Amino acid sequence: MGIRIAVLASGRGSNLVAIMHSIAEGKIDGKIAVVLSDKEEAKALEHAKNAGIAAYHVNPKAYDTKEAYEKELLRIIGEADCQLICLAGYMRILSPYFISQAHCPVMNIHPALLPAFPGLHGQRQALEYGAKVAGCTVHFVDEGMDSGAIILQKVVPVLDNDTEDTLSARILEQEHKAYSEAIQLFSQGRLEVCGRIVKVKGE
Ligand code: GRF
Repeated sequence: MGIRIAVLASGRGSNLVAIMHSIAEGKIDGKIAVVLSDKEEAKALEHAKNAGIAAYHVNPKAYDTKEAYEKELLRIIGEADCQLICLAGYMRILSPYFISQAHCPVMNIHPALLPAFPGLHGQRQALEYGAKVAGCTVHFVDEGMDSGAIILQKVVPVLDNDTEDTLSARILEQEHKAYSEAIQLFSQGRLEVCGRIVKVKGE
């Protein structure tokens, strides 16, 4: 059976789809219980609905405050009885209120090797900086931006002729593997968090 997962996404939803595939292939012991998006047109919502997963657009503009909006997200996630919240291309910063009130851990995937290149366009930042390797990071979400404890990272080379698109595509392939691996480790109860350090039990 495994854990029940809530996914928050704002866009195309390729990480969501990768997680769905991993579940279908038995690589994650779990189930996506609900998908939430701040964007009505998010492809992620479509992917979820096509797979028969409960998927809702929760419009931030319909709420007077960020807290009221996030309270609604947490209400839906609580009702869906989720044990893990996964941000997958969710383009809003969650407030300390959300993090402190969430009844379960929150994970995020970032397209750079944190702590390098946090924030938007991690791939472009790596390219423009002249980094020779790039990659992705799955981390727990804390109250800062892309600053939570790192669960796992995958590295790809930066090639001389890379554009933002080619580098992003190479990183994305690894994102899809990394996120599923991290979720499965969590689902198996193998992640031990000591402050900033996440140890993988049995490795
Ligand atoms: C990914 O690159 C992810 O690392 C970042 O946003 C992008 C989302 O892509 N946080 P998708 O919506 O999962 O395809």
